[in-house]
Amino acid sequence: MSRTVLMLPGDGIGPEIVAEAEKVLHKINEKFELGLTFESGLVGGAAIDETDSPLPDDTLDKARKADAIVLGAVGGPKWDSLPMAKRPEKGLLGLRSSLELFANLRPAILYPQLASASSLKPEVVSGLDIMIVRELTGGIYFGQPRGVRELESGERQGYNTYAYTESEIRRIGRVAFEAAQQRGKKLCSVDKANVLEVTVLWREIMEDLRREYPDVELSHMYVDNAAMQLVRAPKQFDVIVTGNMFGDILSDEAAMLTGSIGMLPSASLNSEKQGMYEPCHGSAPDIAGQGVANPLATILSAAMMLRYSLGEEKAAENIEAAVSKVLDQGLRTADIMSEGAKKVSTREMGEAVLAAL
Ligand code: IPM
Ligand code: MG
Repeated sequence: MSRTVLMLPGDGIGPEIVAEAEKVLHKINEKFELGLTFESGLVGGAAIDETDSPLPDDTLDKARKADAIVLGAVGGPKWDSLPMAKRPEKGLLGLRSSLELFANLRPAILYPQLASASSLKPEVVSGLDIMIVRELTGGIYFGQPRGVRELESGERQGYNTYAYTESEIRRIGRVAFEAAQQRGKKLCSVDKANVLEVTVLWREIMEDLRREYPDVELSHMYVDNAAMQLVRAPKQFDVIVTGNMFGDILSDEAAMLTGSIGMLPSASLNSEKQGMYEPCHGSAPDIAGQGVANPLATILSAAMMLRYSLGEEKAAENIEAAVSKVLDQGLRTADIMSEGAKKVSTREMGEAVLAAL
């Protein structure tokens, strides 16, 4: 059976890092005889330039038909002044919501080789292995009404709506409980239930689910405390489940614990396990086109794709082992550079992973 992977490079460093991930996937495809076929499409600013839309019909069509998607990054200063509905980010958000990719898995794992690249003390982060489960198609990112309106006073007011239905909370809760069952059996649900009703309901549903997963130890934490605990004692966490915006913020924070956001992959899944796989970092326009970006988060995202959407665990592990090997070899892109290591470009890093496969 042939399976299709859609490659969406996007903007900024996107094309550079996706090119390296694609080479790795081609090689893995041969080595494990996976029968994958590859397509590509436009999204974000690149799509705006060509078609005037951040998510052209052709891309959405291909995305719906694909078994999995690898996306680089979207956005950049060139498109920052466009109205909200036409911005590159809408391409990404449109894909997430159209395919109902509600479950965003963001593992923050510290490679022992990179302990010194973290801004925290090695003893605080060594052995770190957290999974953030972020709700991705609801919450304040998508709540209605939203906009900027004029009040009677003549002053303008910007507003968004933070809303979750019970079923939205329940389905992300189940993903998180199940992830915890596969790991350290600890789940921390992050909310702001001391202020926001929507998260009072969130907490109630998580408590409800607890009964179905008696082997998982559930705890709750307010988001401000969670932000603090993540830098104070991050190893207390196993799986964290939270809403869209809190998850956006906490996953960037967790990424930095691992030394660089350039190392963090992610998976966004729907209930059919169809998924989109992207690095957690953005398009980094400041370093785009210079060949210095770290392709490892995208390469590791490709590994997650093999695991979660394509059921090819061995191939996924092979990529992860290859990444670990190049780190052992002392190869570092600029973002994870440390004393005594060998600084390499985006392409050299990709080639090294290929060689290590
Ligand atoms: C992320 C990004 C996106 C988000 C942006 C680019 C819309 O920050 O994937 O974390 O906020 O979800
Ligand atoms: Mg983010």
